[in-house]
Amino acid sequence: MDDQGLLKFPDGFLWGAVTSSYQIEGAWDEDGKGPSIWDTFVRQPGKIERGETGMVAADHYHRWQEDIDLMGALGLKAYCFSVSWPRVLPAGVGQVNQAGLDFYQRLVDALLAKGIMPVVMLYHWELPQSLQERGGWGERDTALAFADYARLMAQALSDRVPFWVTHNEPFVSAMAGHFTGEHAPGIQDPIIALRATHHLLLSHGLAVQALRSSLPATAAAKIGLILNLTPAYPASDSQADRDAARRQDGIANRLFLDPVFKGAYPADMLEMLGPLFPEVPPGDLAAISTPLDFLGVNYYSRAVVRHDPDFPILNASQVYPPASEYSQMWEIYPPGMFDILKRVHDEYHPHEMFVTENGVCVPDGVDFDGKVRDDRRICYLSDHLAQVHKALQAGVPLKGYFHWTLTDNFEWAFGYRMRFGLVYVDFDTQARTIKESGRWYAGLIRENCLDPENCLSPDNALA
Ligand code: FCB
Repeated sequence: MDDQGLLKFPDGFLWGAVTSSYQIEGAWDEDGKGPSIWDTFVRQPGKIERGETGMVAADHYHRWQEDIDLMGALGLKAYCFSVSWPRVLPAGVGQVNQAGLDFYQRLVDALLAKGIMPVVMLYHWELPQSLQERGGWGERDTALAFADYARLMAQALSDRVPFWVTHNEPFVSAMAGHFTGEHAPGIQDPIIALRATHHLLLSHGLAVQALRSSLPATAAAKIGLILNLTPAYPASDSQADRDAARRQDGIANRLFLDPVFKGAYPADMLEMLGPLFPEVPPGDLAAISTPLDFLGVNYYSRAVVRHDPDFPILNASQVYPPASEYSQMWEIYPPGMFDILKRVHDEYHPHEMFVTENGVCVPDGVDFDGKVRDDRRICYLSDHLAQVHKALQAGVPLKGYFHWTLTDNFEWAFGYRMRFGLVYVDFDTQARTIKESGRWYAGLIRENCLDPENCLSPDNALA
């Protein structure tokens, strides 16, 4: 902190935004793209609010040039996007769709031309439907197919892409997709969810190895994984609630961090899950713990947890403190950002770390004068970035921050109701408007400095 109370970020700190293919691209069956599990899922009645789909989404497949111009206007240093697996491999394996590869090559070239560093993520939940028909993440072969897909992408883009991410949030892929069934493929089976957990992690490890062996030695590219991490706090001081919080932490955080960084599943989780957890073949954990260059942490909120014997297996459930502030989706709890970053650094020691998602959905819309006044998003950002800065001061090796997200988009089961963008999208016309939060973020990037007491100051805005 300097003497005016400003929080200065390190030179070269990578300020970015992050998106995902299904949520923005649209063009769900254009130019040879194959169907993904989301294309199938959204058509099942009752799965998505108002029956909405990502068939058009933010039409990024056609408007990518305009979106890159918006990134330029915000002054982004980096942009993290995911590749739609069935756009480049329509059946998941075998025949390559050159038009799909061309799309991502054009995108990368245009980003580089604007001086924006591309970060390529291989999986943000778009499994090719034909692989789902063979058992999807419940089957080991899907992990092998993922490694082949990683190799293909490395061959296509490795000369130009400095950062690679295997998966986004394997916890959500596994649990929302196969346990609660809120996400594609909509399965509700704890055994399949845990098999999916293991195969997703295995696919991550195999993809790291495939990327390393396919990236040219000269490229100096970095490879990482993105986990959504939710710090768990007990609802009271009672031993029962503290144990419940520990179990919640186990299932949401340690079940993914431990195998990746320590080469072992947490013993208390294996005991709790018993025969529900799959046999782990020899060698799998060695592959899963293949060393990484960085970990991306997605942080939105915390879990306050109490002992709950009615909740199957976990015997724990979440409570929502009435005095807290809430967004449309989650509790707003900035200190959790510092707590989780510091804890991961202390216990797991990733070489480098990034915040790879953080953001908020609060009601917003275009006012009479054309502005989108999303002050609550600005304050959310400011409060969370102050915690990011505190983590930097505490020695956490943070190299950048990616805001979720660039434009409003298709927010999974909520459809278009939840808006997380720095840029407002009118989904009737696809017109884009930079929100006040976008202007604020641009100011922050320009100054590389945060005034934490004064987030709504007019100085913090796009010039
Ligand atoms: C994350 C997802 C992302 C978006 C945000 C709000 O868990 O990775 O796609 O849904 O939440």
